[in-house]
Amino acid sequence: MFIAAARARKSILGNFQTIGYEPDEAAWRSIRMGVKRDLQARRLRPNVPIPSRRNPIKYLDAVYRETGSIRETFVSFLHDGAWTSSGGSFRLAEEVGVDLLHEADRRLRTDGALQYLEVGGGWAGLRSPPPSKPRDIASLARHFENGLGQNVFFHFTNLTQWHAELPAGIVEHPYVTAAGLSILDTHGLQAGTVDILYSQAAAYFETDVKSFLVAASALLRNGGLLVFNLRPEFAGLVSECARANGLAMRKWCNAGGMNGIIVAFEKQPIAWRTKPPTGNVKIHLPRAELLRPGESSAMLAELDPHPANQRDAGELGFPQMLEVFR
Ligand SMILES: C[S@@+](CC[C@H](N)C(=O)[O-])C[C@H]1O[C@@H](n2cnc3c(N)ncnc32)[C@H](O)[C@@H]1O
Repeated sequence: MFIAAARARKSILGNFQTIGYEPDEAAWRSIRMGVKRDLQARRLRPNVPIPSRRNPIKYLDAVYRETGSIRETFVSFLHDGAWTSSGGSFRLAEEVGVDLLHEADRRLRTDGALQYLEVGGGWAGLRSPPPSKPRDIASLARHFENGLGQNVFFHFTNLTQWHAELPAGIVEHPYVTAAGLSILDTHGLQAGTVDILYSQAAAYFETDVKSFLVAASALLRNGGLLVFNLRPEFAGLVSECARANGLAMRKWCNAGGMNGIIVAFEKQPIAWRTKPPTGNVKIHLPRAELLRPGESSAMLAELDPHPANQRDAGELGFPQMLEVFR
């Protein structure tokens, strides 16, 4: 585990060097923790609900049940941070009222090709039994199997390598962080070609949200869709950076607790971006509760969809949303 973590950190730093990126201390600390959680989470079954460490008995019981190791259970509790179980996937998009299957279908029909990128895809559904409706990369790939590897491509990133091999048309990009997404250009994923960029409980851990949004916007094609969740304390920064990078807010919702805020943006064509903004909003941010990263997947699994909480940006825009969080 220690050797695997050191190797992953080295590969991540190598990627940073290639793109000329230097994370600050907080970002690097968060990435180091993320690498450890990756190595742990890879050993859990998908979608295992791991209780919060605030409830130590339940937490220890669940991790012990999963790992069978008293040592690993206590190390995770005392040192490595909360464990997460990968597998929630499209749940986040459903929460904010975005149907990724419909979006993918529509874009493929209109453009004749589909390029999907997930930041922090974990197992990407490739370890789970197929759901009845496509809800992750694996099941979406099955849905589009005729075009897979020809005009339909699925890409996903992870901080470590989760997969030894994958079907044609599905590509894992290990050792890639949200802020360091521009490395994907050197892997053949060109700027302006991504139709849907999705991240559940992954970009959430990124502390350099500005670099993430710059890189995400560059990868998206005009009209491309970006859906992810963020910590409430980053809401102001996300709002500013999204606007500065031609991303228009389409939907948002407050998923609550450690799921944070879920947002859906659409990349605007250049002409739109030069249009002066309608109404300037001064952003005051609350001193939001600092959320402990690590439990979002499991938390989402516990949520019931609550459409009443979904907002179209036209109905109540992101700036007004910031007011809600004041
Ligand atoms: C809780 S898992 C979620 C996996 C998947 N989205 C799901 O719900 O099953 C966290 C994921 O975030 C990724 N991750 C953690 N920190 C990250 C960062 N700063 N940038 C990009 N990905 C990150 C990890 O590699 C891992 O894939």
